[in-house]
Amino acid sequence: MARKGLLKSGAALALMMILAAGAAAQEKAGLFQAGQEVYAAHCASCHRANGQGLPNVFPALTKNSFVTGDPQGVIQIILEGRQGSMGRMPAWQSRLNDKQIAAVVTYIRQAWDNQAGAVTPEQVAGQRR
Ligand code: HEC
Repeated sequence: MARKGLLKSGAALALMMILAAGAAAQEKAGLFQAGQEVYAAHCASCHRANGQGLPNVFPALTKNSFVTGDPQGVIQIILEGRQGSMGRMPAWQSRLNDKQIAAVVTYIRQAWDNQAGAVTPEQVAGQRR
């Protein structure tokens, strides 16, 4: 009897773990998809839908080691913008919320030829000043 109960709770635990893993995977896919929408609405006009930008005007985000490198730097430039040699990258901190910024950063790090880790809304919140 006791052994049967143990087997049952083991099966329940395994099921819970499978469900939790599924939920986490779904949340990640949701972030990427939400990011695609933010990108199409706010970024593609300059960086283009294919992430290749415009030579000498808007930098390419695909195959870009800054984009796939330290996530802090990427979050920072989206939040605060940057005036650089190519022109001005607008700041988004007052126009997009933490989840939208996490989504779009996750998107540009994983779209096209890029393969880098996702970022969370908590990471974005932690970098707002
Ligand atoms: C009005 C045009 C414009 C829009 C819209 C725009 N950007 Fe930019 N972005 C730029 C320019 C210009 C630069 C280069 C600035 C420089 O010379 O330092 C840049 C730079 C960047 C960089 C740094 C690239 C590198 O190699 O250093 C990232 C990342 C980036 N943009 C992401 C985004 C995302 C994500 C969005 C949408 C939320 C967005 N941009 C919207 C014009 C734009």
